[in-house]
Amino acid sequence: MRRGACAVAALALLAGCLACASTAVRAPEISAEVAAAGLARGSDRATLESGREVFRSSCARCHALPRIGDHSAEEWPAIVDDMSRKSRLLESDTAALAAFIQACAAVDRATEG
Ligand code: HEC
Repeated sequence: MRRGACAVAALALLAGCLACASTAVRAPEISAEVAAAGLARGSDRATLESGREVFRSSCARCHALPRIGDHSAEEWPAIVDDMSRKSRLLESDTAALAAFIQACAAVDRATEG
């Protein structure tokens, strides 16, 4: 009896962990569409990759990694400005981050309709 209850509790815990992992925000992958949106804005893949790395390493230090689709492409530049100052990013890292976010935001908007 007790062992059964234990197994149920363990399963519940496991299910909770899995649910949690699947809802955590992760940095978007550089899909073909994101790469194309970047190129259309003059940013090559290497720039997008380094922007993604900056996003992953610098933007989840004070709060959870933000969801890019929560803000429009028009809203992001002011946010990146503010947050890169808070993060004390180098100018080149800020530029790569902005390129990555803009490319993702453009695709998000396109897929949202
Ligand atoms: C030093 C701490 C710190 C770091 C690092 C940081 N943020 Fe923030 N962020 C904050 C605080 C504090 C707020 C809420 C108050 C505000 O908007 O200033 C916030 C709010 C936000 C918001 C919500 C803004 C809104 O208007 O709803 C977004 C999006 C965001 N941050 C993105 C980022 C990104 C992208 C990075 C990486 C460059 C980043 N943050 C790094 C402290 C930080």
